[in-house]
Amino acid sequence: MSGEGVQTPLERMIRRHIAHSGGLSVADYMELCLSHPEHGYYTTRQPFGAAGDFITAPEASQMFGELLGAWAAACWQGMGGPARLHLVELGPGRGMLMQDLLRAAKSWPDFFRALRVHMVEISPHLRAAQKERLEGAGVHVRWHERLPGREDLGGEGPVMVMANEFLDALPVHHYERVAEGWRERLVVVGEDGRLAFAPVGEAPRAVPAWARDLPVGSVIELSPERAAMARDIARLVAARGGVALVIDYGHVRPAAGETLQALHRHERVEVFHRPGMSDITAHVDFAALGEAFRAAGLAVVRPLEQGAFLLLLGLEQRLRALLARADTAQAARLLRGAERIAGADQMGRLFKVLCAHSADMPTPEPFTP
Ligand SMILES: C[S@@+](CC[C@H](N)C(=O)[O-])C[C@H]1O[C@@H](n2cnc3c(N)ncnc32)[C@H](O)[C@@H]1O
Repeated sequence: MSGEGVQTPLERMIRRHIAHSGGLSVADYMELCLSHPEHGYYTTRQPFGAAGDFITAPEASQMFGELLGAWAAACWQGMGGPARLHLVELGPGRGMLMQDLLRAAKSWPDFFRALRVHMVEISPHLRAAQKERLEGAGVHVRWHERLPGREDLGGEGPVMVMANEFLDALPVHHYERVAEGWRERLVVVGEDGRLAFAPVGEAPRAVPAWARDLPVGSVIELSPERAAMARDIARLVAARGGVALVIDYGHVRPAAGETLQALHRHERVEVFHRPGMSDITAHVDFAALGEAFRAAGLAVVRPLEQGAFLLLLGLEQRLRALLARADTAQAARLLRGAERIAGADQMGRLFKVLCAHSADMPTPEPFTP
């Protein structure tokens, strides 16, 4: 709803911008809604958990972070067990993944001692929540507002970058096929006074080969912002040696169609619903991500579905071990969590896991072909 009187401060700002410039790209709209320093969703809200707007895998089950901890330890062994490993998490939310990962990592004391943790977070609220959660974790943790460069990590040692539900929050552009070719879709004010999309922007610099023959009316999502982030991650991993693990919802093959969605209190809402007060995301194009990693010199393995990945890491065994000492309420929570993170109709198939690594280390299990 975008009527007068119920507009959020951000919507008023967006409307002024549209009046001045004629329209706003979907990417700019998304970025303003999520990251505006005063009114953005992540800057102002605490979106996680049952009382928030969505539940991510680490929020749904402690086993997610624990299994990633075991995976990280095995990976470190594959690197030859270096004395230092810089573990960089992008967009760590409330810090649940890192907390669970570090608890599991204590089972490998040399690995745990090697860890230097770097949290990359734009939201001051979430940074504070992460600090509180990781206090007393027993490792050295530093916070960064953006992905650190090779020199910013300090000291020696390879790097391990993890990003769970991070790239889906980086902006996408929409292009629509019209009779004359491709046009960027802009956010405009429609004739009824509401915010709306219109294909009135510029053509894209390049149309990907897979989209060239799409019919009029088709929409594609392109994200130079995500490609740039992938390039930066890859450069860091290539320069220091190491591995990147990206987990997100998305597709393995590029395809036409719009996946932009807004969530408010666990319900899907229209993307123009109360700008700045709902979470806006779009699926990750894992083919484009893999290409960006490969172009920067990393080895990239075909993505696994999250459910298959977690089962290969030992989800069932971990669940059985936890159930053996759980009371009835805890057991129900554990079973619900496992279903949520790995169930085929929940996160298990929609979410994909992509691993990319430097040439000087073996492909980590369970990605080996
Ligand atoms: C959907 S949440 C995922 C949180 C966490 N990884 C989890 O799985 O629970 C997205 C996270 O990315 C952060 N974020 C969004 N855009 C960012 C950016 N450009 N730079 C750094 N962090 C960002 C948000 O503040 C939030 O912590």
